[in-house]
Amino acid sequence: MTLTQVSTTPFPDQKPGTSGLRKKVPVFQQPNYVENFVQAIFDTVEEREGATLVVGGDGRFFNREVIQTVLKMAAASGFSRILVGQRGLLSTPAASCLIRKYKAIGGVVLSASHNPGGPDGDFGIKFNVSHGGPAPETFTDAVFQRTQSITHYRTHRASDIDLDVLGETRLGNATIQVIDSVADYTELMETLVDFDKIAALFVSGFRMRFDALSAVTGPYAKAILEGRLGAPAGTVVNGEPKPDFGGHHPDPNPVHAHDLMDLMLGPDAPDFGAASDGDGDRNMIVAPGLFVTPSDSLAILTAHAHLAPGYAQGLAGVARSMPTSRAADRVAAKLGIRAFETPTGWKFFANLLDAGLVTLCGEESAGTGSNHIREKDGLWAVLLWLNILAELKKPADKIVREHWAAFGRDYYARHDYEEIETTRADALMAHLREILPSLPGQVFGGLTVEACDDFAYTDPVDGSVTPRQGIRILFKEDARAVFRLSGTGTAGATLRVYLERFEPDPRRHDLSRQDALSAVAEAANTLAKIGEFTGRSAPSVIT
Ligand code: G1P
Ligand code: ZN
Repeated sequence: MTLTQVSTTPFPDQKPGTSGLRKKVPVFQQPNYVENFVQAIFDTVEEREGATLVVGGDGRFFNREVIQTVLKMAAASGFSRILVGQRGLLSTPAASCLIRKYKAIGGVVLSASHNPGGPDGDFGIKFNVSHGGPAPETFTDAVFQRTQSITHYRTHRASDIDLDVLGETRLGNATIQVIDSVADYTELMETLVDFDKIAALFVSGFRMRFDALSAVTGPYAKAILEGRLGAPAGTVVNGEPKPDFGGHHPDPNPVHAHDLMDLMLGPDAPDFGAASDGDGDRNMIVAPGLFVTPSDSLAILTAHAHLAPGYAQGLAGVARSMPTSRAADRVAAKLGIRAFETPTGWKFFANLLDAGLVTLCGEESAGTGSNHIREKDGLWAVLLWLNILAELKKPADKIVREHWAAFGRDYYARHDYEEIETTRADALMAHLREILPSLPGQVFGGLTVEACDDFAYTDPVDGSVTPRQGIRILFKEDARAVFRLSGTGTAGATLRVYLERFEPDPRRHDLSRQDALSAVAEAANTLAKIGEFTGRSAPSVIT
């Protein structure tokens, strides 16, 4: 085993986005590509000497190889203790939990979240900082700068670490510890939700299905739901993480988790259905016969969280990303707690959580979380739902309907136009920004524009301003359309159009989403000239 410096030259494209660096697998497989980026991260971690680092990934294709590279480079870069999940597996929330619990300087998480895996699929590397959340832009900017001037990386020429066996190995001055991927996370969950109550629910005959979509949550869900809470074997399906996710697109929404949807909407639906994404930070909740939108889920969890021991004191506040429906705001108003609207992406929640301004937060894209870590947490959301179900002793669909009856229903849909040419997408957004001042008072699809803006966020904690976060159009008929471009895609541009309409009248809570939202969809299409700019007659995915 020798410590070596290897000469290298920069790659121009290593600019990390909000969720780290994401590219197709073959891009990462280029010689020195991974090494360059990892060295740029380590060089940016100023206090790495003698510090603890957490390493793990979602098990996708190339995970094991890159884990070995990261471990050897970390040992050569001054970290003294490196915690790595067994088999190289750590869900994003578990990594966040470990960083906080073991006071690590940060963690390297290998994942492209909900994007498909496999030899032609996506791969990603992100860095989470010492509070457990994604690195702030100042950090990722510095990493990018570093990638542009890198000349060497450091590593140990050593045989691979055995990732299958728990235990410690010395590598140079560092100790590499292969840890149980699930144990610390389970311990944390036990402090937040009432395991005994949920176990009693299963004893009473309650049945659920958790679809892990052959991604990283399988081992967590099996250990907690089947192992600790006594759910029958087979409750967790697709529970073994696979390099290509078994062909699944591990994005928990009605389109990609269609098997679960078919079951839950069919005659043999169990009492509750849930799914999680590639790296385990997203969740999908399905009641018998009824998909629960993530926006509604956040609102319902906000209304009932106090029933779980971790939240028995009540909530400080709730935050949602701007495109998430306003359902949670209505609950916050009733509870008399603060509600925040942040730009898309988890990092904006971290400041609010750190400052104690909010306890729960969530996004329309199936991310829900709380102050227990600094990432969204898929399985946590499922467990909190179970705790609430165990306390209320009512069917999940009834809880949702009663929620709508009490607060009104926010019909909601997201239309994604994927892999459109970047120039076309940019032109559409430029067009919208140009016409914004003239929109108020105009009528589209029978709806009248009341107000509109290009969302800018002022962080209530540090006062920083983040402009141009998406176009919001509010209609007088209590409807809203939001337009923004995805920041996480790996091919071309993705236009996201978020549509919502508030319906206070319980007699109108059983419309189809399409009927409820057709006018907003028409208004959005007309005013943004979506067909003309994108060259598409319909969205690629509706969730
Ligand atoms: C998407 C989601 C966003 C989420 C992010 C990371 O980002 O829309 O809510 O935080 O993935 O999981 P986008 O591609 O829209 O920029
Ligand atoms: Zn994810």
